[in-house]
Amino acid sequence: MRAVTFSRFGGPEVLEVANLPEPKPGAGEVRIRAAAATVNPTDVSFRTGRQLTEAQLAEMGVRPPYIPGMELAGVVDAVGEGTDWRPGDQVLAIVNPRRPGGGAQAELVVVPAASVVRVPKGKSLEAAATLPMNGLTVRLALDKLALKPGQTLGVTGAAGAVGGYAVELGVSEGLRVIAVARPQDEAVVKGFGASTFVPSGEGAMRAVFAAAPGGVDGMIDAAVLDAAVLPAIRDGGKLATVRGFAGPSERGITIEPVRVASYLQNQDALDRLRRLVDDGRLTLRVSESFPPERAADAQRKLAAGGTRGRLVIVF
Ligand SMILES: NC(=O)c1ccc[n+]([C@@H]2O[C@H](COP(=O)([O-])OP(=O)(O)OC[C@H]3O[C@@H](n4cnc5c(N)ncnc54)[C@H](OP(=O)(O)O)[C@@H]3O)[C@@H](O)[C@H]2O)c1
Repeated sequence: MRAVTFSRFGGPEVLEVANLPEPKPGAGEVRIRAAAATVNPTDVSFRTGRQLTEAQLAEMGVRPPYIPGMELAGVVDAVGEGTDWRPGDQVLAIVNPRRPGGGAQAELVVVPAASVVRVPKGKSLEAAATLPMNGLTVRLALDKLALKPGQTLGVTGAAGAVGGYAVELGVSEGLRVIAVARPQDEAVVKGFGASTFVPSGEGAMRAVFAAAPGGVDGMIDAAVLDAAVLPAIRDGGKLATVRGFAGPSERGITIEPVRVASYLQNQDALDRLRRLVDDGRLTLRVSESFPPERAADAQRKLAAGGTRGRLVIVF
């Protein structure tokens, strides 16, 4: 089977398509013939060696060639014992690429059955592939913030993949969402249902504090501004971070680092996200599709910033 791979850390040019042995599903696993797999910031970090060294990966049994990608959609083509999935089912799935079997950007991907749900009604497999990783990240962030209907949620990077889902999921839970994004993203972010739009940059956190007022109850910092967002949060509020920032904090604000890896087999949460798409309350966004041979171009484009909607590798 063909897969996007890299065998040493480096620039986008280390990415290449390789022919690898076909993986077989074990008990409780399904094998998906991938139609589409997304390109996310974590794939860039994996390829540059920013997250884990080769030695750390080897200790986890993960050896080159590495296969990037954390989410995919396609058709079940083989099942292990003890799963309810059947060959031919159209599904989407989340996967940790830092495992011996590799990630999502491969023609055949074996995952635990609990990491799989069916594709939302009427959605293409390309669009469906954009749901699980960032959707579950926001689900986990909201679970950690534990806000109640009527409370305020601040979201930075609100036009991005995490930020967009954060606005829409927050709204669907009855939160008042104050969204921070680039000035040119105002229309799209308001379209997600944000009650207040704040242009990013100088003075943005003061504007969020004033709009709350007195500070938001919780914040999801998808733009990774870290300590710079603390002034927008009320005394004793909560901050969900997505790139490991854990403090120092101030004024009794609790910082909750989020790692989606802990929700890889939260099938119930993933299925609830799928139903929100069915109901038109979560928006799937594809920016552009690339063949696997152009995975390097996709990563270059993502790293350059400014992409709205996800870049997708189509097999
Ligand atoms: N911990 C986890 O489990 C987990 C899971 C998923 C994602 N993440 C992380 O979450 C972050 C967001 O991911 P994503 O996929 O949503 O990325 P994305 O789609 O590129 O969105 C990020 C958004 O933030 C904006 N932004 C970035 N820096 C900014 C700044 N200094 N000021 C204002 N806006 C800024 C970007 O605008 P421009 O494009 O114009 O720069 C973009 O709209 C990434 O760091 C990713 O690694 C973590």
